Amino acid sequence: MDLQISVDAESLTRRVADLIDTRRIGAARPLLAAARRMAPSSPRLAELSALLALREGRLDLAQAELDRAIADAPEHAGLRKYRADLRRQLGDRVGATQDAAEAVILDRNDPAAKALLGLLLLDLGQSADAVRCLHEAVADAPANPSFREGLSSALVACGNEADAAATLAEGIAAAPGSVALRNAAILLAVRRYDFAAAVQWADDALAAGVADACLFGLKGHALSSLGQHAEAADAYTEALKLRPDDPYVRHLVAASGAVAGAERAPNEYLRAVFDGYADRFETHLISLGYRVPGLIRAALLHRLDISDGARIGPVLDLGCGTGLLALAISDLPLGPVVGVDLSPRMLAAAAEKQLYAELREADLMHVLATDATSWPLILAADVLCYIGALDDVLAAVHARLPPGGLFVFSVEELPADTAEAWGPGGKARYRHGLSYVRQAATAAGFTVHAIDREVLRYEIDAPVPGLLAVLGRAGDDR
Ligand SMILES: C[S@@+](CC[C@H](N)C(=O)[O-])C[C@H]1O[C@@H](n2cnc3c(N)ncnc32)[C@H](O)[C@@H]1O
Repeated sequence: MDLQISVDAESLTRRVADLIDTRRIGAARPLLAAARRMAPSSPRLAELSALLALREGRLDLAQAELDRAIADAPEHAGLRKYRADLRRQLGDRVGATQDAAEAVILDRNDPAAKALLGLLLLDLGQSADAVRCLHEAVADAPANPSFREGLSSALVACGNEADAAATLAEGIAAAPGSVALRNAAILLAVRRYDFAAAVQWADDALAAGVADACLFGLKGHALSSLGQHAEAADAYTEALKLRPDDPYVRHLVAASGAVAGAERAPNEYLRAVFDGYADRFETHLISLGYRVPGLIRAALLHRLDISDGARIGPVLDLGCGTGLLALAISDLPLGPVVGVDLSPRMLAAAAEKQLYAELREADLMHVLATDATSWPLILAADVLCYIGALDDVLAAVHARLPPGGLFVFSVEELPADTAEAWGPGGKARYRHGLSYVRQAATAAGFTVHAIDREVLRYEIDAPVPGLLAVLGRAGDDR
């Protein structure tokens, strides 16, 4: 049988466009070469060639194609649009914006060009103009999820979060299968501290069968911000199931501290973080104006009777890190000092200071539970912030203090008007309420000598509020 295969340039070009659209890049290149051999050069072929090069990540080739094609056909809107996209990827925002504006002028009916121009204007900080362009794009193509998302971002940049939320809600109604829009709605609710709404958006998405790992991660974040740590842990577990190796999801899970029952940050996470941080830890903390070792030193000078020069010790430094606290108290008659920390690299830095009689790589709870030593002074600088409920650790410390012993520690403080005992503080940290710390300390048998509000450090130039607690064995008033 004589099989006749007839292919014309037009159908070949359509086939190339289809292959690019469906991301079958490898098959598209030889067909494009064939189409170019069959037909004289045209803007459509140049467009496809540039698009293919863009998809292949060959930005130089794409740029050369587009420059040549635009020189031949400067009025071609599609070529302008692709070059705008390319210039954006190359970081040439101004050139990209000029091309996108040309594309919109040349073809008033192309919502994609309007949306691109809007996003570029948003990049340039011209949010009001961005909103106008993206509004037009959305009006032309109401069910396009990425135009909606862009408009919502532009509205947020203009400070109009309510309209941004409404845009996303309308977008979800028009394109219910878009997980990107669902996630954008949850993220916006989280950003507005409306955690209940965020959970509701997530549940709606789940009911509609639209979810990815990110959605579960965001739901977990919202739940943990509502103090629903067990439910948050469930959501994070779902996220991990969907993307077990995704570093972002792993970070969300770890940073939530929600996996192990939400009562504290996981040890493996803390060890990994502080091992990785050990080299920069001290310079970073100095840059943050870290005050806790100095505050503890001042509290000890105020509370301890060291006038006769008799040494008070042994001293237990829980979560000793690189030894900044031992350094701050090194001229006082205190010691020997024993440091405990989860991170071997933080401990190695502490060892270099030669201020510790002993350094132990261990969980502080383990040491308190298994070492029967009686410590007249136990210190914990910026470490109990990795534990949510403090009741167990306070009871364990109390059991290791002799009469007259002192426990001095810092925690980050929840906003004063919060009724909660403790809540997540981000980056695997927790924050605690003053009245909870007082009540838990009393319940553990301590006499509360002082719980003072203090600035612990400065982050992005804002003070981080905290509490410095000085507790003693009941009956030992100072
Ligand atoms: C923010 S650093 C503070 C270090 C030091 N206390 C200071 O003030 O410079 C917290 C340290 O506590 C350690 N850490 C956190 N949780 C711990 C735990 N459960 N047991 C022992 N060490 C812990 C970390 O490894 C880290 O070195």
